[in-house]
Amino acid sequence: MEKPICFIVFSFLLVSANTHVESHQEGWISGVISKKGLDFSKDLLIEKAVSSMFPLHLPDIEKSVKIPLIGKVHLGLSDIVIYSVDFPSSSVETGDSGIVLVASGATANLRMKWKYSYKNWVITISDHGTATVKVLGMEVGLNAAIINEEGTLKLLLLDHGCHVKDISIDVDGGASWLYQGIVDAFQGKIVSAVEEAITKNIQKGIITLDSKLQSIPKELQVNSVVALNVTFMDDPLLTNSSVEIDINGLFKGADEISVSNYYCKRSQNFLTGNGLAKMVEISLHEKVFESAASVYFNGDYMHWTVDEIPDSLMNTDGWRYIIPQLYQKYPDDDMNLRLTVTSPPIIQIADHDIDTTIYADLIFEVLNSDEVVPVACVSLVIKASCSAEIHRNNLAGSIRLIDFKASLAWSNVGDLHMQLVQAAISTILKTFFMPYLNLHLREGFPLPLPHGFTLQDAEIIQLDSRVIVHSDLSYANRYDPSQLGTNLLVTA
Ligand SMILES: *[C@@H]1O[C@H](CO)[C@@H](O)[C@H](O)[C@H]1NC(C)=O
Ligand SMILES: *[C@@H]1O[C@H](CO)[C@@H](O)[C@H](O)[C@H]1NC(C)=O
Repeated sequence: MEKPICFIVFSFLLVSANTHVESHQEGWISGVISKKGLDFSKDLLIEKAVSSMFPLHLPDIEKSVKIPLIGKVHLGLSDIVIYSVDFPSSSVETGDSGIVLVASGATANLRMKWKYSYKNWVITISDHGTATVKVLGMEVGLNAAIINEEGTLKLLLLDHGCHVKDISIDVDGGASWLYQGIVDAFQGKIVSAVEEAITKNIQKGIITLDSKLQSIPKELQVNSVVALNVTFMDDPLLTNSSVEIDINGLFKGADEISVSNYYCKRSQNFLTGNGLAKMVEISLHEKVFESAASVYFNGDYMHWTVDEIPDSLMNTDGWRYIIPQLYQKYPDDDMNLRLTVTSPPIIQIADHDIDTTIYADLIFEVLNSDEVVPVACVSLVIKASCSAEIHRNNLAGSIRLIDFKASLAWSNVGDLHMQLVQAAISTILKTFFMPYLNLHLREGFPLPLPHGFTLQDAEIIQLDSRVIVHSDLSYANRYDPSQLGTNLLVTA
């Protein structure tokens, strides 16, 4: 009975067959789960598995045995239930062989009914009662690989098993011959029934988990305008202390096809220094932010009618000294100012800073007897600095104006005093444009995390063209067994 479980051995061969992948495309958002994150997921997975698997009903066992002095007895066990299991220690290992999860020293408690009957010369004697069984030193293990199949993750169970070391049976009632009879006849059968049932349920659990993985949508709708492409790129990368998962990570229009396609070879992301202390590291390349900006730009969302500025700037009278001809041509007329971004904003992530350059036109319009007359246009190059923040599971930001350049594009109202124009535009940017952008940036967009997980104590660093979030995780509905399955995948 004492044979070691050898699920790990076969897997090397199987996994190496899977590591051959045709395309190596980098994802623009990558998530690295640290050892701490793997341990957290493992505990959660075991907790979920236990709460969904038990009580576990085993099939009835019957047997005829020869009992000394009594003769041939027909014995049966029924209503056999494993009603609780305790896993005091477990471990998760990752590496070339996939993910290996082992729980050892587990105990399981069973209860069951016994009955017997035998013929004594002429009369049939029978009795029944209950028994409890404790299974000790149980070892449960599985080895699984995660591979990418056309953009979704697939979980392959490579090996699994359950091994019971010891068993103790406690029969309520009955004679001592019965006790010995049950122990002799059923010990081995109970052990193999337990081993078989748990092994079968690991298979079932992996199938459930796999179908949860497969049902993760390839697109995360952020709002009515943009969706995040969360297609998985390549196979997850497993080292002995982390798992890295890459997703495409670019934004696209909510109901249109790809905005842009970038390809480059995947480079392994190692957890950056302090990332090791947290459960996950999620890193977002500047292209992610550029893709969002370009969806809004291409969707024709980046133009505004300026309001919330001093009233004086809404009437030609206020511009009397800045654009003298404007006032002469249209004395005391109401005005509109329209701000239009003219190309997708440029976003560059430098250390400690997200530099943003926005090219825009500010168009002056006069409302002259029900007619809107464009009179002049000033081109702007706006430099701003963003900083990233985490609000719950959202990556949000705030922006502040660094400086801007204004140049006259065209005018139907003669020369503009550009120095004065500059001052007026500064007011417009500070009182209208930046607050407007901040209102939207503050909402941010959800980081792609599986259902139920919340970031905890997140920290952000900006480094090497990437925004990197280091965070622990908490799991909200820990005791909801219907959520079984989404836990393994901590990022993506
Ligand atoms: C993980 O692998 C590296 C070499 O790739 C080794 O230096 C390190 O000790 C290993 N860590 C563990 C925990 O096995
Ligand atoms: C999403 O990303 C995948 C992988 O890069 C790509 O093949 C697919 O075309 C993208 N989908 C859209 C709608 O952009």
